[in-house]
Amino acid sequence: MLTCSDICLDYVEATRVTHALKGVTLEFPPNKLHGIMGPSGSGKSSLLYILCGLKAPTSGNVLIDGKSITKMTDAERASLRSKQFGFVFQQPFLLNYLTALENILVGVSPSVLSTATIKAESLLENLGLGGMGDKYPSMLSGGERQRVAVARALIGNPDIVFADEPTAALDKENGYKVMKALADWAVDHTVIVVTHDADMLKGADEIHHLMNGCLVDNAQPNVR
Ligand SMILES: Nc1ncnc2c1ncn2[C@@H]1O[C@H](COP(=O)(O)OP(=O)(O)OP(=O)(O)O)[C@@H](O)[C@H]1O
Ligand SMILES: [Mg+2]
Repeated sequence: MLTCSDICLDYVEATRVTHALKGVTLEFPPNKLHGIMGPSGSGKSSLLYILCGLKAPTSGNVLIDGKSITKMTDAERASLRSKQFGFVFQQPFLLNYLTALENILVGVSPSVLSTATIKAESLLENLGLGGMGDKYPSMLSGGERQRVAVARALIGNPDIVFADEPTAALDKENGYKVMKALADWAVDHTVIVVTHDADMLKGADEIHHLMNGCLVDNAQPNVR
């Protein structure tokens, strides 16, 4: 299980310190879709990047299965990210000269390429993109491209998927499709989604609200 305790983050610029996170303590039990909500500037992205080890907190600790991410070496953190974590960002960041299928497989080791290809095709099918694996990103809609990015995040079978505003660039219909794919993954994994759009978290199991760097209500069960 992923937990964080008393996370503080200060951004220090020349003459200014921003206290972006002020003592955030949270648990992310598995088999749930967790939402992190809050207004712009409340610290959502900062928290997400600390949780996945991409950013170091000023103080506080992040633990995965009891082991401190904060105290790992850079190599240990990188290995954790590649083996156990998946990422979805606001923009899909697909490579234009690779097909959808090739984009999904871009980080896959050659030794498992044939089994991964079968899995990628089944992910595309589950995401409503069956038969589109040979299309280039320029031939896909924004919503389809983002679903390819979700498939790329899932191909390594991650225990935890971190998503920062995955639906912000999409219309509602495509946003719901992306959220459905993430909710399906959360049935037997952990998914943490940052968003400012409450509609996108209708299927979430727990929603954590951030305001000005503080948690305002801890782990409210979501009312569906
Ligand atoms: N690199 C940085 N340097 C200085 N201050 C930063 C930096 N990144 C973020 N901040 C500040 O930290 C605070 C939290 O930022 P963060 O990006 O985590 O918010 P957010 O909730 O994700 O906002 P948004 O919804 O707009 O993406 C904000 O006040 C922001 O201005
Ligand atoms: Mg953000």
